[in-house]
Amino acid sequence: MATSGGGGGGGIFVAALWWICLMWGWAHVTPQTHNCPSRSDLAPCVCTVKKNGLDILCELTDQQHISRAMSKLKTSNEVIFYLKLRHNNLPKLQDFLFLGLNIHHLTIHNSSLAVVEESSLNSLGNQLTQLDLSQNGLISVPSTAIHNLHHLLLLNLNHNRITAIHNRSFDGLDTLEILTLYGNKIMSVESDAFKGLDKNYSVFCVQVRQFPYLTANETQSTVAMCRILIHMILPTGLEGLDSLILGHNQLKEVPARVFSHLNLLNSLELDGNQINHIHSEAFFGLEENLQYLRLGDNNIHSIPSEALRRLHRLRHLDLRSNNISSIPEDAFTGFGDTITFLNLQKNDIKVLPSLAFENLNSLETLHLQNNKLKHIPEEIMEPIVDTLRNIDIMDNPLVCDCGLRWYRDWLKSLRNKDDDVMLKKRTLCTMVSEHREYKVQELPVERMNCVGKNLEQTSANEATVPRGYCTVAVATAVSTLAVATFSSYRCM
Ligand SMILES: *[C@@H]1O[C@H](CO)[C@@H](O)[C@H](O)[C@H]1NC(C)=O
Ligand SMILES: *[C@@H]1O[C@H](CO)[C@@H](O)[C@H](O)[C@H]1NC(C)=O
Ligand SMILES: *[C@@H]1O[C@H](CO)[C@@H](O)[C@H](O)[C@H]1NC(C)=O
Ligand SMILES: *[C@@H]1O[C@H](CO)[C@@H](O)[C@H](O)[C@H]1NC(C)=O
Ligand SMILES: *[C@@H]1O[C@H](CO)[C@@H](O)[C@H](O)[C@H]1NC(C)=O
Repeated sequence: MATSGGGGGGGIFVAALWWICLMWGWAHVTPQTHNCPSRSDLAPCVCTVKKNGLDILCELTDQQHISRAMSKLKTSNEVIFYLKLRHNNLPKLQDFLFLGLNIHHLTIHNSSLAVVEESSLNSLGNQLTQLDLSQNGLISVPSTAIHNLHHLLLLNLNHNRITAIHNRSFDGLDTLEILTLYGNKIMSVESDAFKGLDKNYSVFCVQVRQFPYLTANETQSTVAMCRILIHMILPTGLEGLDSLILGHNQLKEVPARVFSHLNLLNSLELDGNQINHIHSEAFFGLEENLQYLRLGDNNIHSIPSEALRRLHRLRHLDLRSNNISSIPEDAFTGFGDTITFLNLQKNDIKVLPSLAFENLNSLETLHLQNNKLKHIPEEIMEPIVDTLRNIDIMDNPLVCDCGLRWYRDWLKSLRNKDDDVMLKKRTLCTMVSEHREYKVQELPVERMNCVGKNLEQTSANEATVPRGYCTVAVATAVSTLAVATFSSYRCM
């Protein structure tokens, strides 16, 4: 570079470089100075200087005093980094109140705000990044007033009296990252409510059946709360929550301890997301009460045993339509004891190790249909045979082998039972030697050379299997009921 150049030329260059560096450093080190208007001019509001601009706080005052303070600020021409209006009597935010002000974060909290006039916030469109209107009297989203806040990142409408989120309520907020609407009285969310915000955000709709701070009347009607967030951080104040529905969002992971204060949560729906990672501490805090967990229609690659182990009350585990390709022998160790319903249908499971179901001592319903299973040997069913009432293994590439006789015998025992169960008689297996398929209940055992251990088990099975499997209709009804109960409080 230039340092290789000789004599005076190099010296001049170095001097110039030094000068440039000095100027550059000076410009960057010297803080921008801000100045507050005089105390008496601004009273009752108070002003402090922050690194990025002024911090103005107006408390326990009214419309008139606030307008006066805003006029004074206009003449100062300063960046107002925070404008905080709290505990005031400010029922209406008037048009042009902030005209001529450069405000970055605006808070109007606990100030009886009920009306936000159409042109009250317009002038802040190029600067405002945070708007907090929490704890006021808004009965709807002030859409017309906020629609040109094109730099807004956060909108907080918590604890107002909003009853409905209408179509396109947030139109124009194309930079918004966080929207919170907790503690409102939202009863309906129109289907295009969040249209215009359809970027990278996840819409969180939380329905609450029990909410400790609501009166009985309000509790009876379902309170719906929706939120849009990139990260899943649930609010405090929901300690009494009984059921949480986060289904059909765009969650990609379940991070550690996100539900940690929801100790009373009984059911959790996370189905229909894009979850591919569940942290081992994801369900921390749910140990005592969680019974229903839905994780279907995600992108989960293995049974999240580490995360599930703490859930020692779990009864209903739904992992359908994921990308689970194998089940380790210890998959259900430590938490399988209480599970009565397990759905693994529509996965990619190819092999079941013989001890896979060893810990599922209460299992009644097992869905294994639509996998890649070629063999479902008798040993694997042994630990669950006493409690199991309903099993579905349809639509697997099953090979007709002696190991399948347990299923043939079970189906035989079901003759003339409930229609839904009879459908399962269409379960097919392929007889490789004959290049053809058989219905499993028509397995030609006599031609299959089943010998030794299997032969002895045949007689044992014929005696015991029918007894263990014969109350399928009841179990089906129970599981249908569980599904119906779930879908009856689906969001939106
Ligand atoms: C809300 O503001 C009022 C004054 O308008 C005040 O008396 C009250 O304590 C405030 N409430 C809370 C929860 O801060
Ligand atoms: C909201 O949008 C949906 C979908 O476009 C539409 O079907 C519905 O009628 C709209 N609701 C209202 C109240 O306009
Ligand atoms: C969504 O996120 C991805 C990666 O985080 C980013 O590349 C993309 O630009 C984002 N899209 C929008 C519309 O913000
Ligand atoms: C309770 O709710 C009903 C409608 O669901 C309403 O008519 C009634 O006025 C409410 N009662 C109180 C005390 O708010
Ligand atoms: C499922 O997992 C396999 C590897 O285990 C991967 O190759 C495949 O792309 C995955 N499918 C989806 C839809 O993610």
